[in-house]
Order: sequence, then structure tokens, then C-alpha cells
Amino acid sequence: MSAPTSRTAIVTGSARGIGAATARRLAADGFAVAVLDLDEAACKPVVEEIEAAGGKALAVGVDVSDEQSAGAAVQRVADELGAPTVLVNNAGITRDNLLFKMSVADWDSVLNVHLRGSFLMSRATQKYMTEAKWGRIVNLSSTSALGNRGQANYSAAKAGMQGFTKTLAIELGKFGVTVNAIAPGFIETDMTAATAERLGVSFEQFREAAAKQIPVGRTGRPEDIANTVSFLVGEGAGFVSGQVIYVAGGPTD
Ligand SMILES: NC(=O)c1ccc[n+]([C@@H]2O[C@H](COP(=O)([O-])OP(=O)(O)OC[C@H]3O[C@@H](n4cnc5c(N)ncnc54)[C@H](O)[C@@H]3O)[C@@H](O)[C@H]2O)c1
Repeated sequence: MSAPTSRTAIVTGSARGIGAATARRLAADGFAVAVLDLDEAACKPVVEEIEAAGGKALAVGVDVSDEQSAGAAVQRVADELGAPTVLVNNAGITRDNLLFKMSVADWDSVLNVHLRGSFLMSRATQKYMTEAKWGRIVNLSSTSALGNRGQANYSAAKAGMQGFTKTLAIELGKFGVTVNAIAPGFIETDMTAATAERLGVSFEQFREAAAKQIPVGRTGRPEDIANTVSFLVGEGAGFVSGQVIYVAGGPTD
């Protein structure tokens, strides 16, 4: 199955961090990229960077956990940028706490953004992929899926992303659509900076302590994940589906 000549990719949560690096990378790979995040204005700098580098992009405000908002955002991308045949479910939040202190709201909001959001975005986008008989979905899981103190909500969501990935791979494979998950380890972003702040250590200390535990001797950068997304959405990865790729600087078990 060959890909359409001009392809549109959606990257959720791409105003910053891993999502922004992925949006920039997919634009460099030749995709028209929809930069989706909660605040449309916050997506604009990423769009401007892509355009300045000669690429094509569109800023779209969305709450991926809201059915109407997700549906409207995907429709807008199809109308203004082209039928989306690549979806990167990257939007995410953390609301860490030990189980006995975790509120129902913190449980729900984490599950809603990661799992409900990925479900709603994938459901709204799959029709463009199945019509094109070509598509790629990449879901952001995490090494926290294997268990991480203080993250019962987040690790449940990230383990859920893996089951979701494998099931979509089974359902959508016959339409030329591959579905994979990337499970990053420690990546230097606002998300890990916020964790350091919560633990009362400087980001530098936090990062250095993490790097000591990582076989390649450093923490990850958003581009490490963007490179892996680039591989998975490319033509060469058409026989890779239903996989969880740990991108963590070493083995994880
Ligand atoms: N940073 C890490 O070490 C790490 C490790 C493993 C997995 N991840 C995962 O990678 C993804 C990106 O993480 P990051 O570190 O770049 O985080 P980040 O906090 O820097 O960026 C996440 C983005 O998602 C957006 N977002 C949050 N809720 C949203 C919603 N309801 N609708 C639309 N957008 C929403 C935020 O506004 C933000 O721009 C997340 O899914 C995260 O769980 C990160």
C-alpha cells in the first residue's frame, strides 16, 4: 500500500515538550502538521517555527478528553490542512500522589486525558486512515506503565495505552494502518521539571541522579522520542505494528 503524496499528521499536546519536538520533526519529514494543544495561542510559536523552516502547520486548540472538542478539532484539521492519516496521541498530564492521598479528581483527570483522549482522537481520525487505506497511530506510553511510586493513576493510564495500542493494531491492520506505542524513560521537559519541583530538588540534581541509573549515561531529550515517532510513521515501518518501544537509554526489565 503506498502513501498519499501529501500527508497530514496530528500531534496532540504539541505546544511544548515531546509533542513540539515531534511536530517539528514530522514537518521536516514532509508532513503538514496540525499542532494541537489546550490553548491555540500556545501552539502558534511551534507553527511559526515550522513555517519559518519551510513547512506547513496549523494551530488548533483542543481538549482531547472532550468528545465534542476532539471531534471538532479533527474536522478542522481535515478541512484546513488535509485528511489526517497520522495521529500521535501525546497529550498528557501528571497528578502524582501516593494512593492514600490521591483524590478521585486526580485519578479521573489523568485517565481522561491519556486514555479517553487517545480513544476520542483515534476514533475521530481512523476514518481518514481507513479511507486512504494507509495510516499511522503512535501512542505515548511510559516506563511508568511498569509501576512507579506515586503514580497509580498515571501508570494505570500508561499501561492502558499499551492494551489500547495492541487492540487498534489488530482492528486497523487490514486497512494499512499501523498502531504502535512509545514508552519513554526520563525525558527533559516541563513535565519532569514539575516532578523535580514537587520533590523539592533542583531539576539539575534530579536529572543527574536519573542519568546515573540510565545505561547510556544521560537523560532523554524530546528529540529522542521525535526520532522514534519519525521511524514509526515512515514507510519503512509498515510491518511494525502493535509494538511498545521503550526509549529509555537502556533495558527496562
Ligand atoms: N517527560 C517524560 O519524561 C515522559 C516520560 C514518559 C512519557 N511521557 C509522556 O509523553 C507525553 C508528552 O510529555 P511531555 O513531557 O512533553 O509533557 P509536557 O507537560 O511538557 O507537555 C504535555 C502537553 O500536553 C498538553 N495537554 C495536557 N492536557 C491536554 C488536553 N486535555 N488536551 C490537549 N492537550 C493537553 C499540555 O498543555 C502540554 O502542552 C505525555 O503523554 C507524557 O505522559 C513523558
